[in-house]
Amino acid sequence: MSADTRKKTYEHLKDEIFSVVSGETYLPARLATTACLLSEAFQPRFFWTGFYVVDPLKPQELVVGPYTGTLGCLRIPFGKGVCGACAETGETQLVADVHAFPGHIACDSRSNSEIVVPVRDGNGNLVAVLDVDSTEYGAFDEIDQEGLEAICQGLLIA
Ligand code: SME
Repeated sequence: MSADTRKKTYEHLKDEIFSVVSGETYLPARLATTACLLSEAFQPRFFWTGFYVVDPLKPQELVVGPYTGTLGCLRIPFGKGVCGACAETGETQLVADVHAFPGHIACDSRSNSEIVVPVRDGNGNLVAVLDVDSTEYGAFDEIDQEGLEAICQGLLIA
C-alpha cells in the first residue's frame, strides 16, 4: 500500500470509526469496534491490534482490553515493555525492532515491530493504550503514527 493510500485510508477510517461508535457509551464496545476496523483495513501488516486499558483498581497497571490477533498477555505494569513505556511517558512509541527494546514483552515471538499510542479521556487522563504489532521489521512510520494518534485522540470524545 502506497504512502498516499495509507494516509487516505486513515482519514476514511477515522470518519468510519467515529461514526460507528457515536452515541455508544460502553467503552469496550468503542475499543472493540476500533480494533476490528483498523485490523481489517491493514491486513496482513497489522498482526495484533488492540488495547491495554488502565486498571481502575491498580492505576499503575495495564490490563488487556479488546483486541484482534493471537493471545496477548493479560497485565503490563507501567514502565515495562513498549506498552508500559507509552503508559508511563504518555508518548507514542514507534519501535522498528522490538527485540532491541529494553524490557519488551514477547506475547508472540512472531511480532518484530510495534507502535503504541496513548488514548486519553476529555480531561487528558490516560485511559488506555492502542498497541499494533507486525511480523515485519520497521512496519510502522510517521504516517501510521499520525493516523493512529488522530483516531486515538478523538476516540473517547467522538
Ligand atoms: N509487545 C508488547 C506487549 C503486548 S503484546 O505484544 C500483545 C509490549 O512489549 O508492550
